[in-house]
Amino acid sequence: MSVLLEAVNISRSFISGDSPCLALAPLSLVVEKGEFLVVTGRSGAGKSTLLHLLSGLDLPSQGEIFFKNRSLSRMNEMEIARLRNSSFGFIFQTPHLLSDRTILENVAMPFSYGEPVAHGTVDKRCRELLAYAGLEELIHRFPGTLSGGEMQRVVFARALVREPEIIFADEPTGSLDGGNSRKIMELLARQVNKGCTVVMVSHDPEAGSFGTRTLHLEKVESAEGVHS
Ligand SMILES: Nc1ncnc2c1ncn2[C@@H]1O[C@H](COP(=O)(O)OP(=O)(O)OP(=O)(O)O)[C@@H](O)[C@H]1O
Ligand SMILES: [Mg+2]
Repeated sequence: MSVLLEAVNISRSFISGDSPCLALAPLSLVVEKGEFLVVTGRSGAGKSTLLHLLSGLDLPSQGEIFFKNRSLSRMNEMEIARLRNSSFGFIFQTPHLLSDRTILENVAMPFSYGEPVAHGTVDKRCRELLAYAGLEELIHRFPGTLSGGEMQRVVFARALVREPEIIFADEPTGSLDGGNSRKIMELLARQVNKGCTVVMVSHDPEAGSFGTRTLHLEKVESAEGVHS
C-alpha cells in the first residue's frame, strides 16, 4: 500500500462573535491508497470540517495536508481546482444537480473544466457510468423527476466520471432508505475493489460496515480524535 493522503497535526477554528470556536481539534491522519475510511462521531464533532480540509475545499488553521506528497496549502487556487477536478470525486448528503440539465448533461459537468476530452469519449463514459449505476433508462430526464435514491446515484456517476483517485463522501446515504442506501454503499465498495480510495463520513452503522477502517472523532471538549 502507498500513502495517498496525509494530514499532519491539522485543526480548524472559526471566529464566532469575539471568541474562536474550534471546529476540529488537532489530529494527524494517513490514508493509504485503496482504503475505505469511515469517519464517525457525534453531530458537531468536526466530520464535515475534516472532509472539507482533506479535499481542499477549505484550509486548516494549523497543520498541513499532503496529497501524494504535495502540500495542498502550498498550491495556488488554480492548482487546487485542477486537482479537485481531475483526482477527487465528491458526494454530499443532498444531491446538488442542475435542474435545467438532463441527467446525462449533469454527469458530464466535470468535463466542462480542466483538460479537454473528446466529445465522443465524454458521452461514452457518462453513458457507461449511468448504466453501471442502473440509470440507463433515465439519461434524458431532468433531476426534478427523479427519486432521492436515483438522484444520489446520478451524483455517484458524476463523482466517478473523471476516474478520481479518491472519493470524498459526506453522509452519502443520509437522505436514503435502507435499500437505496445499500445500493450506494455497494457501488462505493466496488470502486474500492477496483483500487479507488474512499473517505466517507457516516452516522449509519450499516453504511460504516462497508469500510476497511474507522476514524472516530470526539467533540472538541475532549480534544483528540481517536483511531479504532
Ligand atoms: N463556518 C463555520 N463557522 C463557525 N463555526 C463552524 C463553521 N463550520 C462549522 N462550525 C462549527 O464546527 C463544529 C463542527 O462542525 P461540522 O460541520 O464539521 O460537524 P459534523 O461532525 O459534520 O456534524 P454533523 O454530524 O451534524 O454534520 C460545529 O460546532 C459547527 O458549529
Ligand atoms: Mg456534517
